[in-house]
Amino acid sequence: MTILIKGGTVISAVGADLAEVLIEGETIVALLSPGSDLAVSAEGGAERVIDATDRYVIPGGVDVHTHMSLVVAGTVSADTFETGTRAAAWGGTTTIVDFATQERGQQVRDSFEARVDEAAGECAIDYGLHMVLGDVTDDALKQMDSLVDEGVSSFKLFMAYPGTVYSDDGQILRAMQQAAGNGGLIMMHAENGIAIDVLAEQAAARGDTDPVNHGYVRRAELESEATHRAIQLARVGAAPLYIVHLSATEALEQVTIARDRGANVFAETCPQYLYFNLEDHLDQDNFEGAKYVCSTPLRTKHEHHQADLWTGLRTNDLSVVSTDHCPFCMKEQKEMGVNDFRSIPNGIGGIEHRMDMIYQGVTQGEISLPRWVELCSTTPARMMGLYPKKGVLQPGSDADIVLYNPNHEWTISVENHHMNLDHSAYEGITVPGKVETVLSRGRVIIENDTYKGTKGHGQFQRRGLSSYLI
Ligand code: URP
Ligand code: ZN
Ligand code: ZN
Repeated sequence: MTILIKGGTVISAVGADLAEVLIEGETIVALLSPGSDLAVSAEGGAERVIDATDRYVIPGGVDVHTHMSLVVAGTVSADTFETGTRAAAWGGTTTIVDFATQERGQQVRDSFEARVDEAAGECAIDYGLHMVLGDVTDDALKQMDSLVDEGVSSFKLFMAYPGTVYSDDGQILRAMQQAAGNGGLIMMHAENGIAIDVLAEQAAARGDTDPVNHGYVRRAELESEATHRAIQLARVGAAPLYIVHLSATEALEQVTIARDRGANVFAETCPQYLYFNLEDHLDQDNFEGAKYVCSTPLRTKHEHHQADLWTGLRTNDLSVVSTDHCPFCMKEQKEMGVNDFRSIPNGIGGIEHRMDMIYQGVTQGEISLPRWVELCSTTPARMMGLYPKKGVLQPGSDADIVLYNPNHEWTISVENHHMNLDHSAYEGITVPGKVETVLSRGRVIIENDTYKGTKGHGQFQRRGLSSYLI
């Protein structure tokens, strides 16, 4: 099938152009000047023309941090690969990178293969996997090399969660040294979990068990300290480093200092840290704050975290916006911690809202239009070895394309979202634009407020090395 998208403004990471996008099968074959008349020519005419007048035409979103069916503390995150990737499509995301997790005592290979099987044939959009190393043994280090060859070129380590997926400094250094040799990218959950657990135990002993205490004990200093330590270990290990879900000014300062010194250090933040805060969201009555329990936690509005995160996004000290989509229903899931915040499963569902929430940053004057595309699509694709197949509209790239209406205001609600969640952390937020049409590898999967995709269309992406390796 040949498709021509005409009449729209193509937004890339570097600018905006009136252009037509010609697709053959799954691939973009040309960007043409407006008025190419291809659609009406007898030979070589497009079989289908999509009118993009007054729409932005952008590369499909690339969300490199999601957790479908994540097993956590006796429950499982509520979106499966099927439901979560469908919701992603509704929100203009056409590629995700999720995680396979090696828990303590497990073999990396077993955990990886089980996760590959779990995702196969389920996804509406293309997907890749990072590997969580929860037990850095000699075998795990060896497996890192094979995984890189198999298209799993990034590895998440945890400085938090002692007793489950936590790694100590020696394990972290060894994994970094291995990554330095095989080209892998180390992704770090940077929070000092040992200290956090002390504060959490003390809070519970005092009877401070409401959800807001999750935010109080996961102090910004402990994110900053871990970020600093991770950066120093990466310098010693000579490995590139990607800090995930950064939320605190103090942690951003550590990244900025490292980058100013020329270190190959990167960081992402997530919409929840840009729009939610401890006082208004986490500190709510009637256990409502549980909806906002995630780690790193929401930060206080009385400091400048959100303003500083927006600055970081502008200056490139923050290079990526991902969602860390990790949805848990209130009923039977978040409720597990009704008497003790330590038992609330950590995570917020938001895969569907990233493009809209970050577009709001454009309309509010925080970032430019090309920067929106760069943060949500181009850089994540480059960071995670998916570029130029993903993250850009150019001949040879996959035809993962979103038609975005910048003038369609609408209000997010549990009543209109597509995530498998009994609430929306974004309830009542009015956003200025809307994803209207979505193509995944040349196939229209969202159109006229209808989902036209199928489970199993999404293919596993064997990723190359990060474009940011030096
Ligand atoms: O609260 C969060 N972020 N849950 C998902 C797991 C993680 O650490 O990313
Ligand atoms: Zn994490
Ligand atoms: Zn996560």
